[in-house]
Amino acid sequence: MNARSLAGIAVAALGAWALVAVFHEPAKAHAPVAWESSNQCAECHRQVHDEWSNSWHAQAWVDEEARKLSDNFSNTDCIDCHAPQPIFETGIGNRPLARSTRRAQGVDCIACHQMSDGRMAGTLDNPTVSCRPSAQRELTRPEACGGCHNQHGTVDQWKASRYAQPGPGFQDCVSCHMPLRDPSDPSKGRVHVMHGGHDLELVRSAVALRVARDGGVPVVEVENVGAGHNYPTDERSRASDIFWRDIASDGTRGEWRKLHRFRNPYRFEVGEPNTELPAGQTISLRIEDPAARGELEVALFYKLSPYYADPERPDPEREASLVHSARLAP
Ligand code: HEC
Ligand code: HEC
Ligand code: HEC
Ligand code: HEC
Ligand code: HEC
Repeated sequence: MNARSLAGIAVAALGAWALVAVFHEPAKAHAPVAWESSNQCAECHRQVHDEWSNSWHAQAWVDEEARKLSDNFSNTDCIDCHAPQPIFETGIGNRPLARSTRRAQGVDCIACHQMSDGRMAGTLDNPTVSCRPSAQRELTRPEACGGCHNQHGTVDQWKASRYAQPGPGFQDCVSCHMPLRDPSDPSKGRVHVMHGGHDLELVRSAVALRVARDGGVPVVEVENVGAGHNYPTDERSRASDIFWRDIASDGTRGEWRKLHRFRNPYRFEVGEPNTELPAGQTISLRIEDPAARGELEVALFYKLSPYYADPERPDPEREASLVHSARLAP
């Protein structure tokens, strides 16, 4: 080895040392940022932002149904959860307070993530990036959803279900409604679309429909196989109806006849029982009508809003969405 290459090594070593020194200097904590809009997050969290933009959370303030029922939010009680202040502000599990700014963004990034000191609740700590994420287990718990989603008992229903039992079958709100983007790599995060009743595929996965005969009498069973709470849950406007109709030997179908409705009625519908189907439970119904002795079609429908145009002659095929159907031989 000659003097020149030795010098070269020395220089290289010095260079490496200098580099190490630069990278080992403790990273500076980022100065607090005043967050005013979810659009600011989009710059660095593009994928989450795209998913959220397509979610009902992002529509909560512009939602036509909510506007209609709240008289364009002149009922100010309705603003609390549809354009909320950060949930960490009022405390996890408590009903949030109404926000006076950026209402059009509905339930936005800031509402779910921002803590009182301006940091963003997440699953890791990093004071050096502008949003200053802070690991908060509370964010991922059902109670975090519950400040807005327990007014009709969805979190309580979940707590009473087998999904809330610790063990291999445990599944919470986040596991079902925010699936991992890549199940083999949890660091890629969770999908923020949060499907619900507007997603027919999800609704289909909630229930199984079975039909059979018992001594000639049709027996219809519906089992809640996939919802971690009642079916349907939360919003009282949701309804799911079982209808049946006879099929004549020439294939002509009779009129739809209603067998059962799953629903939590509005408060003013006094005397109507809550007929939602709890997680894991099965309901079994017999069709005693003599017209049900021949061939039958049985169908389960789902409705976002409860009423049919003509209650005497409901037309579920036009006014509701088909969840499952089954045919039964004579
Ligand atoms: C405690 C929180 C909270 C308050 C207060 C609140 N909502 Fe909601 N609202 C929700 C949640 C959570 C959902 C979603 C539930 C679901 O999808 O089943 C929702 C959904 C709705 C929907 C259904 C939207 C759709 O697209 O189908 C309507 C309509 C609605 N709310 C109207 C109102 C009205 C009117 C008021 C005031 C009287 C109000 N909300 C007050 C939390 C709240
Ligand atoms: C200038 C870029 C930038 C902006 C703007 C930004 N973030 Fe971040 N954020 C990051 C980076 C980078 C990370 C990842 C840090 C790490 O991996 O250590 C992060 C992490 C997070 C985390 C934790 C992630 C986890 O896996 O737990 C949350 C939550 C978060 N950001 C929310 C937000 C929200 C909400 C906004 C808007 C109010 C926002 N961020 C704005 C860059 C940004
Ligand atoms: C309705 C509440 C809610 C809203 C709205 C929401 N998030 Fe989240 N977010 C969560 C929850 C809960 C988690 C944690 C999930 C887990 O890992 O258990 C999370 C996780 C994250 C993470 C961690 C990495 C990942 O992708 O899962 C980032 C980053 C993040 N959110 C950013 C955002 C941004 C940016 C927005 C707005 C565009 C937003 N969030 C809107 C509830 C919300
Ligand atoms: C700050 C209040 C708030 C929090 C926290 C919140 N939500 Fe929501 N959520 C709403 C409102 C309001 C709506 C109804 C928006 C609309 O359509 O008008 C909604 C709608 C939904 C829907 C229904 C989508 C559909 O198809 O109609 C699902 C599913 C949902 N949220 C899941 C969750 C989960 C899971 C969490 C917890 C990780 C959560 N939400 C946290 C307020 C909230
Ligand atoms: C085992 C999976 C699973 C778990 C756990 C679960 N859900 Fe669901 N959720 C579903 C399915 C399937 C549906 C569609 C059927 C229905 O509306 O009940 C649904 C529907 C919903 C809806 C939409 C109702 C509507 O009117 O559009 C909301 C809101 C909701 N869940 C909130 C929650 C919350 C909050 C938690 C945690 C306490 C939770 N879910 C736990 C599977 C699950």
